[in-house]
Amino acid sequence: MKLNTDLCRILEITYPIIQAGMAGGPTTPGLVANVSNAGGLGTLGAAYMKPEDMKTAIRKIKQKTTKPFAVNLFCTNWNDQYEGVEESQKVLNAIRAKLQIKDISQPVITTNFFEDQFRIILEEKVPITSTAFGVLPKHKVLELKKRNIKITSMVTTVREALIAEENGADIIVAQGSDAGGHRGTFEIEGDTNGGLIGTFSLVPQVVDAVSVPVVAAGGIMDSRGLVAALALGAQGVQMGTAFLTTLESGAHPEYKHALISSNEESTVITKVFSGRPARGIKNQFIQEYEKAGIAPADFPTQNTLTGDIRREASSQNNPEYMALWAGQGTRLLQSNLSAAQLIENLINGAKRIL
Ligand SMILES: Cc1cc2nc3c(=O)[nH]c(=O)nc-3n(C[C@H](O)[C@H](O)[C@H](O)COP(=O)(O)O)c2cc1C
Repeated sequence: MKLNTDLCRILEITYPIIQAGMAGGPTTPGLVANVSNAGGLGTLGAAYMKPEDMKTAIRKIKQKTTKPFAVNLFCTNWNDQYEGVEESQKVLNAIRAKLQIKDISQPVITTNFFEDQFRIILEEKVPITSTAFGVLPKHKVLELKKRNIKITSMVTTVREALIAEENGADIIVAQGSDAGGHRGTFEIEGDTNGGLIGTFSLVPQVVDAVSVPVVAAGGIMDSRGLVAALALGAQGVQMGTAFLTTLESGAHPEYKHALISSNEESTVITKVFSGRPARGIKNQFIQEYEKAGIAPADFPTQNTLTGDIRREASSQNNPEYMALWAGQGTRLLQSNLSAAQLIENLINGAKRIL
């Protein structure tokens, strides 16, 4: 078994480690560039970024590294839902009262930045586009291929992996249910929490089903996880949670503290923050919303509805009302480590095991 896999050749990186694009602020240009400079693939989580902010971040990354990096977007429907929003606002207003912020009852508007974000990826010649929540429309895939921009596509089932491969993905990221953050699921009907296949079960089944390189995601925190993923047939790993507590991460200090204080029993999968199932540390917000028994609105409406609460919680340094996305491997987290040190530890440890 070798660390220099096909994934490294295709993405032109030294080590088979992808730092996940994490929308909402953790993936600072410094984090992305330092991961790429250390031989992994840094990814900007750009899904919620205004196009001008995304362009600025990409330019900052380019100032800090000449190595390949990725930009991550959500391939999903960004239309707002209006039914059921009033009910959700009632639950949220009770929470707003606790934080001493003003009531909101009107519907919300979510701006869809996708077309502009995609255009910037082309204009800025971003080397790799990373996607979640679906696959890119075929004409956009062709635009990327014409420019030799590689595509990584996140899936949660074999069925989705086959769709992603057929759609032209160069790399498939198999996201197990252990993973922190949103479930990437896009092919499951009905009101479920998304394809909940554990990383160990999912990865070899996806590897057997597709012919492009597969990357394992979900609960991979250290060199043991990296080597295990390679043993399952993956050509690399995509890690989110492990990078949240690095020095360069933009995660709020209270979020970092909650991560370090959590364990394998701390997280739940919930739709209450965004309307899509996502894994995070159970806190007051989740408990209070779920106790109300009101269904959250769909994504992205619920995400927009809860935005003021999450922002206020950050400014009040109150983790009980932030979205504390985290995977199930948090006992393995290390703090006060730079991204480069984390990668070095992963590689040195993996070499020892191999
Ligand atoms: C804070 C956080 C935010 C995330 N945001 C995104 C995102 O914007 N786009 C995406 O494709 N995946 C996102 N993910 C999921 C990761 O791609 C990956 O599947 C996950 O982090 C792997 O599990 P781990 O956190 O246990 O390493 C996020 C994960 C976390 C922890």
